[in-house]
Amino acid sequence: GENQTLIIVSNRQPYSHQYETGDEGNKKITVDRPAGGLTAGLDPVMQRVSGTWIAWGDGEADRDVTDKDGTVQMPPEENAYTLRRIWLSEDEVEGYYYGYSNRVLWPLCHGGIWKTEFAERYWQRYRQVNETFAKVIDEQTTPTSLVWFQDYHFALAPRLVQESAPESTFLLHFWHIVWPGWDTFRACPQAKTLLDGLLGNDLLGFHIDRYCENFLDCVDKELEDAFVDYDDNRVRYDGHTTRVESFPMGIDAATIERTADSVSPSFWSEFAREHGFDRETQVAIGVDRLDYTKGIVERLDALERLWEMNPEWQGELTYIQKADKSRSRIPEYQNLQQNVETAVERINDRFGTDDWQPVVYIDDWLTDEELRGLYRYGDAMLVSAVRDGMNLVAKEYVAAQVDCDDRDQNPNLGEDCSEQSGNDMESAICGVLVLSDQTGAHEALGEHALTANPYDTEAFAETIEQAVTMDDAERRERMTALREHVASNDIYAWMDDIFEATQ
Ligand code: G6P
Repeated sequence: GENQTLIIVSNRQPYSHQYETGDEGNKKITVDRPAGGLTAGLDPVMQRVSGTWIAWGDGEADRDVTDKDGTVQMPPEENAYTLRRIWLSEDEVEGYYYGYSNRVLWPLCHGGIWKTEFAERYWQRYRQVNETFAKVIDEQTTPTSLVWFQDYHFALAPRLVQESAPESTFLLHFWHIVWPGWDTFRACPQAKTLLDGLLGNDLLGFHIDRYCENFLDCVDKELEDAFVDYDDNRVRYDGHTTRVESFPMGIDAATIERTADSVSPSFWSEFAREHGFDRETQVAIGVDRLDYTKGIVERLDALERLWEMNPEWQGELTYIQKADKSRSRIPEYQNLQQNVETAVERINDRFGTDDWQPVVYIDDWLTDEELRGLYRYGDAMLVSAVRDGMNLVAKEYVAAQVDCDDRDQNPNLGEDCSEQSGNDMESAICGVLVLSDQTGAHEALGEHALTANPYDTEAFAETIEQAVTMDDAERRERMTALREHVASNDIYAWMDDIFEATQ
């Protein structure tokens, strides 16, 4: 509303401050943006409406640039909103972030109960950090505040804030990951307390209806005193009503489009030279945080099968894997990184030749321009998550497919662009999205993407082949539909829908 002030609460901050490497002496400080769709998605929202963003100050140089009261104006140079940093002890980081959040809730919600580690000390720290955040939120709230919690790091804080904040403060929570079915969730020793915490909210949002239904079902089965209204998507519990609704998150499509559009004409050949691949081959790409939910090894298996079964693709199809290191202190993540690197080496040893490398692995940082350029020129994007709440990378790829539109406006380019490859024109073909049906994004994009089951190696290999051999007319038809969806259901539409629901 017009007089509401927005308070965003998330674990990950939108910007962190770091010392420039190798420059300890004069301590030059740089600003970093973390990997992961959540903060990148909310930053433009926050820039629009201003307010306060409360998050863990995890950057090594954060304290050097933060005021005594824990605040710093963001983004740098623009001062559009206030970032309030919370300092956590090593013990808290270990128990709350690496422990309960990422060794319990993350695997549990993604259906991997055997990967969970329900250590009591994790739970204690998770509770403690939720209390710390709740206290800081309390200091900031006024009767007209809208407090917006993000994600699984704060299942308990809403209840704590609800108990102390003014009655008129609106509590909103968006859970960015999957909410699992009850048969999975019931494995959690703290199931009841987590649900109780989340029911302190006035509105609880998930990406898709299935997660809402799962949540309502969990409440129904776990909390005897709760009344679940499945028709109206609400829960009445402890004298308070919580609405549970779906809001599929979008991306800042216009900005991504603009960046993709502005990459220099020589970008693709320079990028190919720098990373040592032949851009004249078909190029499939994958861009992921190194997380076991993303199905990266499964994807490499499918590619290996393709090169094995159809050797004509050797030398004709290159796969680029961009990987962001993530949560590396957790053994499961170290194992994954190891498994991915081993698979890449094996495939390259097996099929690589003097002038062709099947898999190009990029784990260093890319600028926005490089990333959007990679999206733009990649002939196919492979998203093969074994489970994923939404997957915004799929949408970013679609937004970056600007040549798909250009072709409409420039009929001279013709329907078939095969004659075009090999000349000096940068390839301006429409890309194909291959999308796992285990992602939230598949609900809306599945109809026009090619669907993959990451575990069905054989079929997945065939789908990749289908993507890179698809004729231009079909590519354009599919991508045009995808682009319309992504452009009209962008991050701003998402924000509007959510804010409207709070009125
Ligand atoms: C997912 C989560 C986010 C998280 C991101 C990156 O997208 O939903 O909450 O920020 O992963 O993970 P990290 O642990 O580095 O914050």
